[in-house]
Amino acid sequence: MQKKNNIPIYSGASPEQIAAGLKTLVDFQDEGLPLEDLSKLVNERLIPHFVQYDLPEFQSMFNAFPEKGAEFGANIALKYNQGVTNWQVSPGAVMLEELCCKALCRIFGLSTDSDGTFMYCGTYANQEALYMALHRKAEEYGFDFAEKGLQGFADPDRLAVVTSCDAHFSLKHAVRMMGLGEKSLVPLPVDKNRRIDIRRMEETLHELLKTKDIFCIVATAGTTSAGSIDPILPIVELCGRSGVWLHVDGAYGLAYSLVPECKKLFSGVEHADSVSWDPHKQFGVPIPSSLLFVRRREDFNRMAVYGDYFNRKDDIEPNPGLKSSPSTRPLTALSLVTSIRYQGMAKVIERLRAPLTAVKTAADYLNTQADVEVCHQPDTGLLCIRIIPEEFPEEQLGQLQIYIYNRIKKERKRSISVTKLDDKTVLRLVAISPSVTSEALMETVSNARKMAGEYQV
Ligand SMILES: Cc1ncc(COP(=O)(O)O)c(C=O)c1O
Repeated sequence: MQKKNNIPIYSGASPEQIAAGLKTLVDFQDEGLPLEDLSKLVNERLIPHFVQYDLPEFQSMFNAFPEKGAEFGANIALKYNQGVTNWQVSPGAVMLEELCCKALCRIFGLSTDSDGTFMYCGTYANQEALYMALHRKAEEYGFDFAEKGLQGFADPDRLAVVTSCDAHFSLKHAVRMMGLGEKSLVPLPVDKNRRIDIRRMEETLHELLKTKDIFCIVATAGTTSAGSIDPILPIVELCGRSGVWLHVDGAYGLAYSLVPECKKLFSGVEHADSVSWDPHKQFGVPIPSSLLFVRRREDFNRMAVYGDYFNRKDDIEPNPGLKSSPSTRPLTALSLVTSIRYQGMAKVIERLRAPLTAVKTAADYLNTQADVEVCHQPDTGLLCIRIIPEEFPEEQLGQLQIYIYNRIKKERKRSISVTKLDDKTVLRLVAISPSVTSEALMETVSNARKMAGEYQV
């Protein structure tokens, strides 16, 4: 049942107004507050400023309200506040997480030798993947990266990561944190549907390999700006030929590989060395819920740091804490497990399919409209468009999209985003929850058109 759009997407209050209202909440006193008073405060001062992700008009980001089964699991995890990473802190939580990772490897069609670990977010999953790739590069040179670090390389300036120009900025964070700097990221051009251009990639790699040590190629399965899926299988072949680690950033898109009619777009993902995924995007599970998968479970050995009191080398029980750096993590696997079990896979797939259908239907229609430019054919649940009124000056098109975006933001009835595709400023519509229908997307476009008519050239 869809909610009607007379509800604002959030209060619309300014940062100053929100801060003024919240001040009392952080006024820490000697005396405690009864829960009823606290509840009143939170309900009045905080919740109106939360964004309503379940409204059909929420079309800007990758957030979703919790699904019922997920909420059930999250409440149990919260009640018992179980830590994961180590058998001693929670045998049940550890075993559930381990089994969940194996089950996910199976449903995503990853190899029987693969493994996964839960992470705080996709950003950290990508970072860990790059770290493991660099570690493997060091092994090729015969040294232990964990011990020697970048100094072990004769010329660290040669180290490079190759990815799409549309790759997520978390890769920039990753190379910064690893001490390589952003100069080590080599962006590749994309084709008209915003997927890595495989022919140009082949040429670039051929040249780059003469001067650079490419230790990782990152393919994106669902880019953040346009939802495009890079051609994974041909990239697998290129990586195989050059012996480079392939990481697939599926933080946003991997979930859609479960939808049978989309599966083909993901072919080859099972051959990637590592894959990241964020169930907290479209699965309706509480934030944070992210995973990193590796094709060979022993790849995670590169992450292990043993302690004397914790993560001990002679522990015989499973120890997820050796697969990533945090020594405390929440039991996020539980809400994912209860969500999938409560709905059943058929409903999960239906939920994933709904926004994809909405975006495709809207794109097909908009492709017939003279005043709307559909900037790419959508692979998943994102659509970038430009409103182009008749005889509108080309040089002001960017400003027009920003004007529309600002007007929509100010109205608070819907939430969309703007982004850049190369030099073009475009409106970016996201369908992440099943409540975003093609009608809701079309309503946004009609609003945008109306606003475009009010723009003063
Ligand atoms: C493709 C892609 N990779 C990585 C990330 C980062 O994920 P997180 O926000 O969980 O850190 C995002 C976030 O939107 C993304 O779209």
